[in-house]
Amino acid sequence: MIFKTVVVIGAGTMGAGIAQWFLQQKINVELVDSNYELALLSSEGIKKNLDSLTAKGKLTAEESNHFKTALKVVKLQEISPNCELVIEAIIENKEIKRKLFTDLEKIVSKETIIASNTSSFPITELSSSLSLDRRSNFLGLHFFNPATIMKLVEVISGNLTDKKLAQSIAHWFNQRGKVACECNDAPGFIVNRVARNFYGESLRACTNYNLDTIKEIDTTLKAVGGFKMGPFELMDLIGIDVNLSVTESVYHAFFEEPRFKPHRLQKEMVDSQRLGRKTKIGFYHYDS
Ligand code: NAI
Repeated sequence: MIFKTVVVIGAGTMGAGIAQWFLQQKINVELVDSNYELALLSSEGIKKNLDSLTAKGKLTAEESNHFKTALKVVKLQEISPNCELVIEAIIENKEIKRKLFTDLEKIVSKETIIASNTSSFPITELSSSLSLDRRSNFLGLHFFNPATIMKLVEVISGNLTDKKLAQSIAHWFNQRGKVACECNDAPGFIVNRVARNFYGESLRACTNYNLDTIKEIDTTLKAVGGFKMGPFELMDLIGIDVNLSVTESVYHAFFEEPRFKPHRLQKEMVDSQRLGRKTKIGFYHYDS
Protein backbone atom coordinates (compact mmCIF):
# COMPACT_ATOMS: atom_id res chain seq x y z
CA MET A 1 0.00 0.00 0.00
CA ILE A 2 1.62 3.25 -1.14
CA PHE A 3 0.18 6.66 -0.38
CA LYS A 4 1.80 9.53 -2.27
CA THR A 5 -0.99 12.06 -1.85
CA VAL A 6 -3.68 12.09 0.81
CA VAL A 7 -6.53 14.59 0.70
CA VAL A 8 -7.99 15.65 4.05
CA ILE A 9 -11.40 17.33 3.88
CA GLY A 10 -12.34 19.38 6.94
CA ALA A 11 -9.57 21.47 8.44
CA GLY A 12 -10.93 21.68 12.00
CA THR A 13 -9.55 19.99 15.10
CA MET A 14 -9.37 16.50 13.60
CA GLY A 15 -8.57 17.36 9.98
CA ALA A 16 -5.58 19.48 11.05
CA GLY A 17 -4.21 16.71 13.28
CA ILE A 18 -4.73 14.01 10.65
CA ALA A 19 -3.09 16.19 7.99
CA GLN A 20 -0.05 16.78 10.21
CA TRP A 21 0.28 13.09 11.02
CA PHE A 22 0.30 12.15 7.30
CA LEU A 23 2.83 14.90 6.54
CA GLN A 24 5.08 13.41 9.21
CA GLN A 25 4.85 10.09 7.34
CA LYS A 26 6.43 11.93 4.36
CA ILE A 27 3.17 11.95 2.40
CA ASN A 28 1.87 14.93 0.40
CA VAL A 29 -1.30 16.35 1.91
CA GLU A 30 -4.00 18.46 0.27
CA LEU A 31 -6.17 20.18 2.86
CA VAL A 32 -9.72 21.28 1.98
CA ASP A 33 -12.39 23.10 3.95
CA SER A 34 -15.66 24.70 2.87
CA ASN A 35 -14.31 27.71 4.79
CA TYR A 36 -11.15 28.42 2.76
CA GLU A 37 -9.86 31.03 5.23
CA LEU A 38 -10.11 28.49 8.03
CA ALA A 39 -8.13 25.96 5.98
CA LEU A 40 -5.39 28.58 5.53
CA LEU A 41 -5.36 29.28 9.29
CA SER A 42 -5.26 25.57 9.97
CA SER A 43 -2.31 25.14 7.63
CA GLU A 44 -0.48 27.95 9.49
CA GLY A 45 -1.23 26.14 12.76
CA ILE A 46 0.28 22.91 11.39
CA LYS A 47 3.40 24.79 10.30
CA LYS A 48 3.74 26.31 13.79
CA ASN A 49 3.44 22.83 15.31
CA LEU A 50 6.22 21.62 13.01
CA ASP A 51 8.38 24.57 14.09
CA SER A 52 7.76 23.73 17.71
CA LEU A 53 8.72 20.06 17.12
CA THR A 54 11.90 21.31 15.44
CA ALA A 55 12.67 23.61 18.38
CA LYS A 56 12.28 20.62 20.72
CA GLY A 57 14.69 18.59 18.58
CA LYS A 58 12.01 16.08 17.50
CA LEU A 59 12.35 17.04 13.82
CA THR A 60 15.30 18.38 11.86
CA ALA A 61 14.90 21.74 10.13
CA GLU A 62 15.20 19.91 6.84
CA GLU A 63 12.35 17.51 7.71
CA SER A 64 10.18 20.36 8.93
CA ASN A 65 10.72 22.35 5.70
CA HIS A 66 10.03 19.29 3.61
CA PHE A 67 6.72 18.65 5.45
CA LYS A 68 5.72 22.30 5.06
CA THR A 69 6.22 22.20 1.30
CA ALA A 70 4.29 18.91 1.11
CA LEU A 71 1.18 20.65 2.52
CA LYS A 72 -1.20 22.43 0.13
CA VAL A 73 -4.49 24.15 0.86
CA VAL A 74 -6.85 23.62 -2.07
CA LYS A 75 -10.53 23.84 -2.96
CA LEU A 76 -12.51 20.65 -3.42
CA GLN A 77 -12.57 20.99 -7.22
CA GLU A 78 -8.76 21.33 -7.26
CA ILE A 79 -7.80 18.14 -5.42
CA SER A 80 -5.61 15.63 -7.27
CA PRO A 81 -8.03 13.20 -8.94
CA ASN A 82 -5.49 10.39 -8.67
CA CYS A 83 -4.80 10.79 -4.95
CA GLU A 84 -4.66 7.39 -3.26
CA LEU A 85 -6.74 8.31 -0.20
CA VAL A 86 -9.30 10.93 0.82
CA ILE A 87 -10.14 11.29 4.51
CA GLU A 88 -13.32 13.16 5.32
CA ALA A 89 -13.20 14.97 8.68
CA ILE A 90 -16.01 17.48 8.31
CA ILE A 91 -18.85 18.34 10.69
CA GLU A 92 -20.67 15.32 12.24
CA ASN A 93 -23.78 15.71 10.11
CA LYS A 94 -24.93 12.71 8.13
CA GLU A 95 -26.58 14.55 5.24
CA ILE A 96 -23.67 16.97 4.76
CA LYS A 97 -21.20 14.07 4.77
CA ARG A 98 -23.32 12.08 2.29
CA LYS A 99 -23.57 15.08 -0.05
CA LEU A 100 -19.77 15.45 0.08
CA PHE A 101 -19.24 11.78 -0.87
CA THR A 102 -21.59 12.18 -3.86
CA ASP A 103 -19.58 15.24 -5.02
CA LEU A 104 -16.27 13.53 -4.32
CA GLU A 105 -17.13 10.50 -6.41
CA LYS A 106 -17.34 12.73 -9.47
CA ILE A 107 -13.86 14.15 -8.84
CA VAL A 108 -11.55 11.32 -7.78
CA SER A 109 -10.57 8.20 -9.69
CA LYS A 110 -12.31 4.85 -9.11
CA GLU A 111 -9.18 3.52 -7.36
CA THR A 112 -9.10 6.29 -4.76
CA ILE A 113 -9.93 5.03 -1.28
CA ILE A 114 -12.49 7.23 0.46
CA ALA A 115 -12.57 7.16 4.27
CA SER A 116 -14.71 8.87 6.88
CA ASN A 117 -13.47 9.96 10.30
CA THR A 118 -17.05 9.92 11.59
CA SER A 119 -17.32 9.29 15.32
CA SER A 120 -20.67 7.61 15.20
CA PHE A 121 -22.42 7.10 11.85
CA PRO A 122 -22.52 3.56 10.51
CA ILE A 123 -20.20 3.24 7.51
CA THR A 124 -22.68 1.16 5.50
CA GLU A 125 -25.24 3.93 5.84
CA LEU A 126 -22.77 6.68 4.86
CA SER A 127 -21.57 4.65 1.88
CA SER A 128 -25.06 4.42 0.42
CA SER A 129 -24.58 7.89 -1.10
CA LEU A 130 -21.89 6.38 -3.37
CA SER A 131 -22.56 4.30 -6.44
CA LEU A 132 -22.49 0.55 -5.76
CA ASP A 133 -19.14 -0.11 -7.42
CA ARG A 134 -17.43 2.57 -5.27
CA ARG A 135 -18.47 1.13 -1.94
CA SER A 136 -15.76 -1.54 -1.78
CA ASN A 137 -13.22 1.30 -1.56
CA PHE A 138 -15.04 3.13 1.23
CA LEU A 139 -14.37 2.60 4.94
CA GLY A 140 -14.19 4.30 8.31
CA LEU A 141 -10.85 5.50 9.64
CA HIS A 142 -11.59 6.89 13.08
CA PHE A 143 -8.69 8.82 14.58
CA PHE A 144 -8.62 10.14 18.13
CA ASN A 145 -7.88 13.62 19.36
CA PRO A 146 -5.08 14.79 19.13
CA ALA A 147 -4.50 12.70 16.00
CA THR A 148 -0.75 13.30 15.98
CA ILE A 149 -0.39 11.78 19.44
CA MET A 150 -3.20 9.30 20.01
CA LYS A 151 -2.19 5.92 18.64
CA LEU A 152 -5.56 4.28 18.20
CA VAL A 153 -7.24 4.24 14.78
CA GLU A 154 -10.51 2.33 14.47
CA VAL A 155 -10.76 0.77 11.01
CA ILE A 156 -14.39 0.12 10.15
CA SER A 157 -15.66 -1.90 7.22
CA GLY A 158 -19.17 -1.36 5.88
CA ASN A 159 -21.10 -4.30 4.43
CA LEU A 160 -19.58 -3.75 0.99
CA THR A 161 -16.07 -2.67 2.01
CA ASP A 162 -13.33 -4.89 0.61
CA LYS A 163 -12.15 -6.66 3.79
CA LYS A 164 -8.66 -7.11 2.36
CA LEU A 165 -8.42 -3.36 1.88
CA ALA A 166 -9.37 -2.77 5.54
CA GLN A 167 -6.78 -5.33 6.66
CA SER A 168 -4.06 -3.77 4.48
CA ILE A 169 -4.80 -0.28 5.79
CA ALA A 170 -4.79 -1.53 9.40
CA HIS A 171 -1.43 -3.19 8.72
CA TRP A 172 -0.12 0.01 7.11
CA PHE A 173 -1.02 2.06 10.22
CA ASN A 174 0.45 -0.54 12.58
CA GLN A 175 3.75 -0.34 10.72
CA ARG A 176 3.81 3.40 11.36
CA GLY A 177 3.30 3.42 15.11
CA LYS A 178 -0.49 3.63 15.22
CA VAL A 179 -2.57 0.91 16.84
CA ALA A 180 -5.21 0.00 14.29
CA CYS A 181 -8.23 -1.89 15.50
CA GLU A 182 -10.70 -3.45 13.06
CA CYS A 183 -14.21 -2.76 14.36
CA ASN A 184 -17.76 -3.83 13.61
CA ASP A 185 -19.90 -1.26 11.87
CA ALA A 186 -22.08 -0.54 14.93
CA PRO A 187 -23.06 3.00 16.03
CA GLY A 188 -20.12 4.58 17.87
CA PHE A 189 -17.91 1.60 16.92
CA ILE A 190 -16.04 0.56 20.10
CA VAL A 191 -14.62 3.57 21.92
CA ASN A 192 -17.40 6.07 21.33
CA ARG A 193 -20.01 3.49 22.26
CA VAL A 194 -18.34 2.55 25.55
CA ALA A 195 -17.39 6.17 26.29
CA ARG A 196 -21.02 7.38 26.05
CA ASN A 197 -21.52 6.28 29.64
CA PHE A 198 -18.25 7.84 30.80
CA TYR A 199 -19.70 11.21 29.76
CA GLY A 200 -23.40 10.45 30.27
CA GLU A 201 -23.20 9.13 33.82
CA SER A 202 -20.84 11.98 34.81
CA LEU A 203 -23.31 14.54 33.44
CA ARG A 204 -26.14 12.83 35.32
CA ALA A 205 -24.03 12.85 38.52
CA CYS A 206 -23.47 16.59 38.04
CA THR A 207 -27.09 17.43 37.06
CA ASN A 208 -26.63 21.22 36.72
CA TYR A 209 -23.54 23.30 35.96
CA ASN A 210 -21.47 23.38 39.13
CA LEU A 211 -17.71 23.80 38.83
CA ASP A 212 -16.99 22.21 42.23
CA THR A 213 -18.88 19.03 41.31
CA ILE A 214 -17.28 18.99 37.84
CA LYS A 215 -13.78 19.21 39.36
CA GLU A 216 -14.64 16.57 41.93
CA ILE A 217 -15.82 14.10 39.26
CA ASP A 218 -12.80 14.74 37.02
CA THR A 219 -10.35 14.45 39.92
CA THR A 220 -11.93 11.23 41.21
CA LEU A 221 -11.98 9.49 37.85
CA LYS A 222 -8.35 10.41 37.24
CA ALA A 223 -7.16 9.39 40.69
CA VAL A 224 -9.28 6.28 41.15
CA GLY A 225 -10.04 5.23 37.58
CA GLY A 226 -6.56 5.94 36.25
CA PHE A 227 -7.93 8.02 33.36
CA LYS A 228 -5.52 10.63 31.98
CA MET A 229 -8.37 13.12 31.64
CA GLY A 230 -11.69 13.39 33.44
CA PRO A 231 -14.97 13.34 31.46
CA PHE A 232 -15.49 17.11 31.61
CA GLU A 233 -11.89 17.88 30.63
CA LEU A 234 -12.28 15.46 27.75
CA MET A 235 -15.59 16.96 26.57
CA ASP A 236 -13.87 20.38 26.56
CA LEU A 237 -11.03 18.96 24.46
CA ILE A 238 -13.31 17.17 22.00
CA GLY A 239 -15.73 20.09 21.68
CA ILE A 240 -19.02 19.95 23.59
CA ASP A 241 -20.94 20.45 20.32
CA VAL A 242 -19.11 17.56 18.64
CA ASN A 243 -19.65 15.37 21.70
CA LEU A 244 -23.38 16.22 21.78
CA SER A 245 -23.77 15.37 18.07
CA VAL A 246 -22.10 12.01 18.64
CA THR A 247 -24.29 11.32 21.70
CA GLU A 248 -27.44 12.19 19.76
CA SER A 249 -26.49 10.04 16.81
CA VAL A 250 -25.55 6.99 18.93
CA TYR A 251 -28.80 7.42 20.95
CA HIS A 252 -30.97 7.49 17.81
CA ALA A 253 -29.02 4.72 16.10
CA PHE A 254 -29.74 2.48 19.12
CA PHE A 255 -33.48 3.31 18.82
CA GLU A 256 -33.46 5.66 21.83
CA GLU A 257 -31.99 3.28 24.39
CA PRO A 258 -32.10 5.27 27.70
CA ARG A 259 -28.49 4.44 28.61
CA PHE A 260 -27.30 6.50 25.61
CA LYS A 261 -29.62 9.47 26.24
CA PRO A 262 -28.01 12.94 25.84
CA HIS A 263 -28.10 15.25 28.89
CA ARG A 264 -29.79 18.66 29.09
CA LEU A 265 -26.55 20.24 30.36
CA GLN A 266 -24.75 19.35 27.09
CA LYS A 267 -27.44 21.19 25.12
CA GLU A 268 -27.31 24.18 27.50
CA MET A 269 -23.55 24.43 27.04
CA VAL A 270 -23.90 24.34 23.23
CA ASP A 271 -26.75 26.89 23.23
CA SER A 272 -24.58 29.28 25.24
CA GLN A 273 -21.58 28.68 22.91
CA ARG A 274 -19.51 27.23 25.76
CA LEU A 275 -18.01 24.64 23.44
CA GLY A 276 -14.78 23.85 25.30
CA ARG A 277 -11.18 24.67 24.50
CA LYS A 278 -11.96 25.94 21.00
CA THR A 279 -14.12 28.80 22.37
CA LYS A 280 -11.82 29.17 25.42
CA ILE A 281 -14.75 28.37 27.66
CA GLY A 282 -16.57 25.14 28.29
CA PHE A 283 -16.88 23.35 31.61
CA TYR A 284 -13.59 25.13 32.42
CA HIS A 285 -12.03 28.47 31.38
CA TYR A 286 -8.91 28.52 29.16
CA ASP A 287 -6.43 31.37 28.69
CA SER A 288 -4.90 30.06 25.48
P1 NAI B 1 -14.56 20.83 13.69
O1 NAI B 1 -15.85 21.51 13.91
O2 NAI B 1 -13.36 21.24 14.46
O3 NAI B 1 -14.16 20.90 12.12
C1 NAI B 1 -15.05 20.57 11.09
C2 NAI B 1 -14.63 21.34 9.85
O4 NAI B 1 -15.39 20.88 8.73
C3 NAI B 1 -14.86 22.85 9.93
O5 NAI B 1 -13.65 23.51 9.68
C4 NAI B 1 -15.89 23.15 8.84
O6 NAI B 1 -15.70 24.40 8.20
C5 NAI B 1 -15.64 21.99 7.88
N1 NAI B 1 -16.77 21.65 7.01
C6 NAI B 1 -18.08 21.58 7.33
N2 NAI B 1 -18.78 21.18 6.23
C7 NAI B 1 -17.89 21.00 5.24
C8 NAI B 1 -17.99 20.57 3.88
N3 NAI B 1 -19.18 20.24 3.33
N4 NAI B 1 -16.85 20.49 3.13
C9 NAI B 1 -15.64 20.81 3.67
N5 NAI B 1 -15.49 21.23 4.95
C10 NAI B 1 -16.59 21.30 5.73
O7 NAI B 1 -14.87 19.26 13.90
P2 NAI B 1 -13.87 18.10 14.35
O8 NAI B 1 -13.88 18.02 15.82
O9 NAI B 1 -12.59 18.23 13.62
O10 NAI B 1 -14.67 16.81 13.83
C11 NAI B 1 -14.63 16.43 12.46
C12 NAI B 1 -15.09 14.99 12.35
O11 NAI B 1 -14.23 14.15 13.14
C13 NAI B 1 -16.51 14.73 12.86
O12 NAI B 1 -17.08 13.72 12.08
C14 NAI B 1 -16.26 14.25 14.29
O13 NAI B 1 -17.32 13.45 14.78
C15 NAI B 1 -15.00 13.43 14.09
N6 NAI B 1 -14.17 13.23 15.29
C16 NAI B 1 -13.98 14.25 16.19
C17 NAI B 1 -13.16 14.06 17.31
C18 NAI B 1 -12.91 15.16 18.28
O14 NAI B 1 -12.32 14.89 19.35
N7 NAI B 1 -13.28 16.41 18.01
C19 NAI B 1 -12.50 12.77 17.55
C20 NAI B 1 -12.68 11.81 16.47
C21 NAI B 1 -13.51 12.03 15.42
